[in-house]
Amino acid sequence: MIPTHVGIIVDGNGRWATKRFKNRSEGHLAGSKNLDNLCQHIFDKGIKILSLYIFSTENFKRSDEEVNYLMDLFARKFKHDFKMFSKKEIRIMFSGRREPLKQEILDIIDDITLKTKDNQNGILNFCVNYGAHMEIIDACKKIVIDNNNGKINVNNLDDKLFSKYLYNDLPDLDLVIRTGGELRLSNFMLWQAAYAEFYFTDTLFPDFNEKEFDLALDSYNKRERRFGGIDYEKKNF
Ligand code: FPP
Repeated sequence: MIPTHVGIIVDGNGRWATKRFKNRSEGHLAGSKNLDNLCQHIFDKGIKILSLYIFSTENFKRSDEEVNYLMDLFARKFKHDFKMFSKKEIRIMFSGRREPLKQEILDIIDDITLKTKDNQNGILNFCVNYGAHMEIIDACKKIVIDNNNGKINVNNLDDKLFSKYLYNDLPDLDLVIRTGGELRLSNFMLWQAAYAEFYFTDTLFPDFNEKEFDLALDSYNKRERRFGGIDYEKKNF
């Protein structure tokens, strides 16, 4: 089975660089280069939605030098990916809080979002300045406003309606991959990951290539997804 929505928690760029006596920026650059072939491969496999956790709200705690480097790299990469993926009819989306992103980045994000909004062959969702708690809080605030305006009736709130108030209304994640050896979610798409399968690998992100992705897919295909139910063929009372 090919999962519909895959999320990748990108981790290990810094350690990849340190192991090679390079500075952390070089790890991020290597990570961003790795994404080119990897994203192509993932869409070629038939996966429809890819969410990439590339900058959390907490990542602003890093040095100004690293944050500025990453923002410049993002700006360049988003423009590059826009050119590469718009030819393939891939829609590019962004999930995250706008503040305190710089206007230059916001303009690029808005432009690419608008220009690719009708593309039908897949979705590449960059999670930038993203945190799942914030996403849920922001959704609740909008729900309260719409309820008070009479636009919705909060008594009718269900998970389908709630999802519409998230940064993007995407189907739940089927598979979450985390590179870099840590075994945690780090505030990534908590709502969307409710029934996701998890795959953790020690491989550092710049080395997480197409072959490594296929191993994650093989592992996913060995899982039995019951969504809280029972596999009736196997039940044994
Ligand atoms: C985590 O590694 C990675 C990041 C915080 C940045 C992710 C950035 C990229 C993949 C490059 C740019 C990509 C795009 C799409 C514009 P880390 O720094 O936490 O690694 P460490 O745990 O080894 O220190």
